[in-house]
Amino acid sequence: MAQLTMKTIAIVPAAGTGERMGNNRKKPYLLLNERPLLYYTLTALASTPSIAQIIVAVAPGDEEFCQQQVLEKFHFKKNIQIIAGGSSRQESVSRLLERVPDEAHLVLVHDGARPLITSELLEQAIAETRVWKATVLAVPVKDTIKAANDALQIEKTISRERLWAIQTPQTFERSIIGEAHQRARQQGFIGTDDAALVERMGVQVKIVMGSYDNIKVTTPEDLIVAEALLKKRRNNRRDR
Ligand code: CTP
Ligand code: MG
Repeated sequence: MAQLTMKTIAIVPAAGTGERMGNNRKKPYLLLNERPLLYYTLTALASTPSIAQIIVAVAPGDEEFCQQQVLEKFHFKKNIQIIAGGSSRQESVSRLLERVPDEAHLVLVHDGARPLITSELLEQAIAETRVWKATVLAVPVKDTIKAANDALQIEKTISRERLWAIQTPQTFERSIIGEAHQRARQQGFIGTDDAALVERMGVQVKIVMGSYDNIKVTTPEDLIVAEALLKKRRNNRRDR
Protein backbone atom coordinates (compact mmCIF):
# COMPACT_ATOMS: atom_id res chain seq x y z
CA MET A 1 0.00 0.00 0.00
CA ALA A 2 3.03 2.28 0.34
CA GLN A 3 2.80 3.30 -3.28
CA LEU A 4 -0.85 4.19 -3.01
CA THR A 5 -0.28 6.45 -0.03
CA MET A 6 2.52 8.24 -1.91
CA LYS A 7 0.23 9.14 -4.81
CA THR A 8 0.73 12.59 -6.36
CA ILE A 9 -2.15 14.38 -8.06
CA ALA A 10 -1.46 17.34 -10.35
CA ILE A 11 -4.01 20.16 -10.38
CA VAL A 12 -3.88 22.81 -13.08
CA PRO A 13 -5.56 26.21 -12.76
CA ALA A 14 -6.29 27.24 -16.38
CA ALA A 15 -9.54 29.13 -15.90
CA GLY A 16 -8.24 32.67 -16.42
CA THR A 17 -9.17 34.86 -19.36
CA GLY A 18 -5.67 36.15 -20.06
CA GLU A 19 -6.58 39.82 -19.84
CA ARG A 20 -2.98 41.03 -20.02
CA MET A 21 -2.50 39.10 -23.24
CA GLY A 22 -5.06 41.33 -24.93
CA ASN A 23 -6.17 38.57 -27.32
CA ASN A 24 -9.76 37.48 -28.08
CA ARG A 25 -8.86 33.87 -27.52
CA LYS A 26 -8.34 32.73 -23.93
CA LYS A 27 -4.74 32.07 -23.01
CA PRO A 28 -4.83 28.24 -22.69
CA TYR A 29 -5.98 27.98 -26.31
CA LEU A 30 -3.53 30.44 -27.88
CA LEU A 31 -1.33 28.62 -30.37
CA LEU A 32 2.39 28.14 -29.82
CA ASN A 33 3.99 26.61 -32.91
CA GLU A 34 0.51 25.47 -34.05
CA ARG A 35 -0.52 23.77 -30.82
CA PRO A 36 -2.57 25.17 -27.92
CA LEU A 37 -0.53 26.46 -24.99
CA LEU A 38 -2.33 24.10 -22.61
CA TYR A 39 -1.28 21.11 -24.75
CA TYR A 40 2.36 21.67 -23.77
CA THR A 41 1.59 22.04 -20.07
CA LEU A 42 -0.51 18.88 -20.01
CA THR A 43 2.03 16.92 -22.07
CA ALA A 44 4.77 17.64 -19.53
CA LEU A 45 2.52 16.62 -16.62
CA ALA A 46 1.24 13.50 -18.40
CA SER A 47 4.82 12.41 -19.22
CA THR A 48 5.91 12.55 -15.57
CA PRO A 49 5.90 9.04 -14.08
CA SER A 50 5.31 10.16 -10.46
CA ILE A 51 2.10 11.99 -11.34
CA ALA A 52 -0.87 9.62 -11.02
CA GLN A 53 -3.69 11.85 -12.19
CA ILE A 54 -4.29 15.31 -13.64
CA ILE A 55 -7.25 17.62 -13.04
CA VAL A 56 -7.59 20.88 -14.98
CA ALA A 57 -9.86 23.83 -14.16
CA VAL A 58 -11.07 25.81 -17.18
CA ALA A 59 -13.33 28.83 -17.44
CA PRO A 60 -16.91 27.81 -16.59
CA GLY A 61 -18.67 26.89 -19.84
CA ASP A 62 -15.41 25.97 -21.63
CA GLU A 63 -15.29 22.35 -20.41
CA GLU A 64 -16.54 20.91 -23.70
CA PHE A 65 -14.38 23.25 -25.79
CA CYS A 66 -11.24 22.20 -23.89
CA GLN A 67 -12.21 18.55 -24.18
CA GLN A 68 -12.54 18.84 -27.96
CA GLN A 69 -9.74 21.29 -28.76
CA VAL A 70 -7.09 19.88 -26.46
CA LEU A 71 -7.84 16.48 -24.93
CA GLU A 72 -9.39 14.84 -28.00
CA LYS A 73 -7.05 16.40 -30.56
CA PHE A 74 -3.84 15.19 -28.99
CA HIS A 75 -2.67 12.06 -27.26
CA PHE A 76 -1.79 12.30 -23.58
CA LYS A 77 -0.22 9.47 -21.62
CA LYS A 78 -2.57 9.93 -18.68
CA ASN A 79 -6.21 10.41 -17.94
CA ILE A 80 -7.03 14.10 -17.62
CA GLN A 81 -10.19 15.40 -15.95
CA ILE A 82 -11.71 18.81 -16.67
CA ILE A 83 -13.71 20.87 -14.16
CA ALA A 84 -15.06 24.42 -14.03
CA GLY A 85 -12.76 26.90 -12.30
CA GLY A 86 -13.73 29.97 -10.28
CA SER A 87 -13.52 33.72 -10.59
CA SER A 88 -9.99 33.97 -9.13
CA ARG A 89 -6.97 31.72 -9.36
CA GLN A 90 -7.31 30.91 -5.66
CA GLU A 91 -10.96 29.94 -6.16
CA SER A 92 -10.02 27.72 -9.10
CA VAL A 93 -7.40 25.95 -6.97
CA SER A 94 -9.94 25.56 -4.15
CA ARG A 95 -12.37 23.87 -6.53
CA LEU A 96 -9.61 21.63 -7.85
CA LEU A 97 -8.67 20.61 -4.31
CA GLU A 98 -12.26 19.45 -3.72
CA ARG A 99 -11.78 16.93 -6.54
CA VAL A 100 -8.49 15.49 -5.30
CA PRO A 101 -9.12 11.88 -4.27
CA ASP A 102 -8.70 10.99 -0.58
CA GLU A 103 -5.82 8.60 -1.17
CA ALA A 104 -3.62 11.35 -2.62
CA HIS A 105 -0.50 12.03 -0.57
CA LEU A 106 0.90 15.03 -2.47
CA VAL A 107 -0.84 17.72 -4.49
CA LEU A 108 1.18 19.47 -7.18
CA VAL A 109 -0.26 22.79 -8.37
CA HIS A 110 0.95 23.94 -11.78
CA ASP A 111 -0.27 26.96 -13.75
CA GLY A 112 -1.78 26.13 -17.11
CA ALA A 113 0.08 29.22 -18.35
CA ARG A 114 3.56 27.68 -17.77
CA PRO A 115 3.97 25.45 -20.83
CA LEU A 116 7.77 25.19 -20.57
CA ILE A 117 7.86 23.06 -17.45
CA THR A 118 9.74 19.77 -17.89
CA SER A 119 9.25 16.29 -16.45
CA GLU A 120 12.71 16.53 -14.89
CA LEU A 121 11.71 19.60 -12.87
CA LEU A 122 8.34 18.09 -11.97
CA GLU A 123 10.06 14.95 -10.67
CA GLN A 124 12.50 17.07 -8.67
CA ALA A 125 9.65 19.05 -7.13
CA ILE A 126 7.88 15.85 -6.11
CA ALA A 127 11.03 14.22 -4.70
CA GLU A 128 11.85 17.32 -2.63
CA THR A 129 8.28 17.54 -1.35
CA ARG A 130 8.53 13.98 -0.05
CA VAL A 131 11.30 15.33 2.19
CA TRP A 132 10.15 18.90 2.93
CA LYS A 133 6.33 18.60 2.73
CA ALA A 134 5.88 21.99 1.02
CA THR A 135 7.99 23.25 -1.90
CA VAL A 136 7.94 25.88 -4.64
CA LEU A 137 10.06 26.16 -7.75
CA ALA A 138 11.90 29.47 -7.93
CA VAL A 139 14.83 31.20 -9.60
CA PRO A 140 17.12 33.97 -8.29
CA VAL A 141 15.85 37.41 -9.28
CA LYS A 142 17.95 38.88 -12.12
CA ASP A 143 16.84 42.52 -11.94
CA THR A 144 17.47 44.96 -9.13
CA ILE A 145 14.22 45.38 -7.23
CA LYS A 146 13.28 48.68 -5.58
CA ALA A 147 10.21 49.76 -3.64
CA ALA A 148 8.62 53.10 -4.60
CA ASN A 149 5.80 55.26 -3.25
CA ASP A 150 2.70 56.40 -5.18
CA ALA A 151 4.65 59.32 -6.66
CA LEU A 152 7.16 56.83 -8.13
CA GLN A 153 9.86 57.99 -5.76
CA ILE A 154 12.14 55.20 -4.70
CA GLU A 155 11.91 54.35 -1.04
CA LYS A 156 14.38 51.55 -0.87
CA THR A 157 16.47 49.04 -2.71
CA ILE A 158 15.91 45.50 -1.61
CA SER A 159 19.04 43.39 -1.47
CA ARG A 160 18.80 41.01 -4.40
CA GLU A 161 20.80 38.26 -2.76
CA ARG A 162 17.82 36.81 -0.96
CA LEU A 163 15.15 37.49 -3.56
CA TRP A 164 13.59 34.67 -5.55
CA ALA A 165 11.09 34.80 -8.39
CA ILE A 166 8.49 32.19 -7.50
CA GLN A 167 7.14 29.81 -10.13
CA THR A 168 4.99 26.72 -10.22
CA PRO A 169 4.89 23.80 -9.64
CA GLN A 170 4.14 24.32 -5.95
CA THR A 171 3.79 20.96 -4.26
CA PHE A 172 2.38 20.15 -0.85
CA GLU A 173 1.22 17.33 1.32
CA ARG A 174 -2.47 17.16 0.66
CA SER A 175 -3.47 17.95 4.25
CA ILE A 176 -1.29 21.09 4.29
CA ILE A 177 -2.63 22.66 1.10
CA GLY A 178 -6.17 21.57 1.95
CA GLU A 179 -6.08 23.25 5.33
CA ALA A 180 -4.32 26.35 3.97
CA HIS A 181 -7.08 26.96 1.43
CA GLN A 182 -9.81 26.26 3.96
CA ARG A 183 -8.34 28.77 6.42
CA ALA A 184 -7.77 31.41 3.76
CA ARG A 185 -11.41 31.10 2.70
CA GLN A 186 -12.66 31.37 6.29
CA GLN A 187 -10.48 34.41 6.95
CA GLY A 188 -11.10 36.10 3.61
CA PHE A 189 -7.40 36.06 2.74
CA ILE A 190 -6.40 36.24 -0.92
CA GLY A 191 -2.82 35.33 -1.81
CA THR A 192 -1.06 35.56 -5.16
CA ASP A 193 0.18 31.99 -4.93
CA ASP A 194 -0.63 28.85 -2.94
CA ALA A 195 2.55 28.94 -0.89
CA ALA A 196 1.44 32.28 0.61
CA LEU A 197 -1.57 30.52 2.14
CA VAL A 198 0.67 27.78 3.53
CA GLU A 199 3.25 30.27 4.89
CA ARG A 200 0.44 32.01 6.80
CA MET A 201 -0.14 28.81 8.77
CA GLY A 202 3.48 28.89 9.91
CA VAL A 203 4.45 25.92 7.74
CA GLN A 204 7.97 26.18 6.31
CA VAL A 205 8.07 26.20 2.50
CA LYS A 206 11.29 25.06 0.81
CA ILE A 207 12.59 26.46 -2.48
CA VAL A 208 13.57 24.04 -5.24
CA MET A 209 15.72 25.51 -8.01
CA GLY A 210 13.51 26.15 -11.03
CA SER A 211 14.49 27.27 -14.50
CA TYR A 212 14.54 30.62 -16.29
CA ASP A 213 12.86 28.79 -19.18
CA ASN A 214 9.81 28.05 -17.03
CA ILE A 215 8.14 31.36 -17.87
CA LYS A 216 4.52 32.21 -17.21
CA VAL A 217 3.01 33.29 -20.51
CA THR A 218 1.39 36.57 -19.49
CA THR A 219 1.88 39.35 -22.09
CA PRO A 220 2.22 39.16 -25.91
CA GLU A 221 6.04 39.12 -25.98
CA ASP A 222 5.99 36.02 -23.78
CA LEU A 223 4.42 34.14 -26.72
CA ILE A 224 7.47 34.89 -28.85
CA VAL A 225 9.85 33.76 -26.12
CA ALA A 226 7.80 30.60 -25.43
CA GLU A 227 7.72 29.67 -29.13
CA ALA A 228 11.45 30.19 -29.43
CA LEU A 229 12.18 28.07 -26.34
CA LEU A 230 9.86 25.29 -27.57
CA LYS A 231 11.57 25.31 -30.99
CA LYS A 232 15.00 25.16 -29.39
CA ARG A 233 13.86 22.19 -27.35
CA ARG A 234 12.46 20.39 -30.40
CA ASN A 235 15.72 20.94 -32.31
CA ASN A 236 17.77 19.67 -29.36
CA ARG A 237 15.69 16.49 -29.36
CA ARG A 238 16.27 16.03 -33.11
CA ASP A 239 20.04 16.46 -32.71
CA ARG A 240 20.26 13.66 -30.20
N1 CTP B 1 -6.42 31.15 -13.34
C1 CTP B 1 -7.49 30.34 -12.97
N2 CTP B 1 -8.69 30.90 -12.60
C2 CTP B 1 -8.84 32.23 -12.58
C3 CTP B 1 -7.75 33.08 -12.92
C4 CTP B 1 -6.54 32.50 -13.30
O1 CTP B 1 -7.37 29.11 -13.00
N3 CTP B 1 -10.01 32.74 -12.25
C5 CTP B 1 -5.18 30.53 -13.83
C6 CTP B 1 -4.78 31.00 -15.22
O2 CTP B 1 -5.56 30.32 -16.20
C7 CTP B 1 -3.32 30.70 -15.29
C8 CTP B 1 -2.88 30.80 -13.82
O3 CTP B 1 -4.07 30.85 -13.03
O4 CTP B 1 -3.03 29.40 -15.77
C9 CTP B 1 -2.01 32.03 -13.59
O5 CTP B 1 -2.79 33.18 -13.83
P1 CTP B 1 -2.45 34.34 -14.88
O6 CTP B 1 -1.16 34.08 -15.55
O7 CTP B 1 -2.68 35.61 -14.19
O8 CTP B 1 -3.59 34.09 -16.03
P2 CTP B 1 -4.88 34.92 -16.30
O9 CTP B 1 -5.53 35.25 -15.01
O10 CTP B 1 -5.65 34.19 -17.31
O11 CTP B 1 -4.28 36.25 -16.98
P3 CTP B 1 -4.61 37.79 -16.59
O12 CTP B 1 -4.29 37.94 -15.13
O13 CTP B 1 -3.72 38.58 -17.49
O14 CTP B 1 -6.07 37.96 -16.89
MG1 MG C 1 -4.55 36.52 -13.53
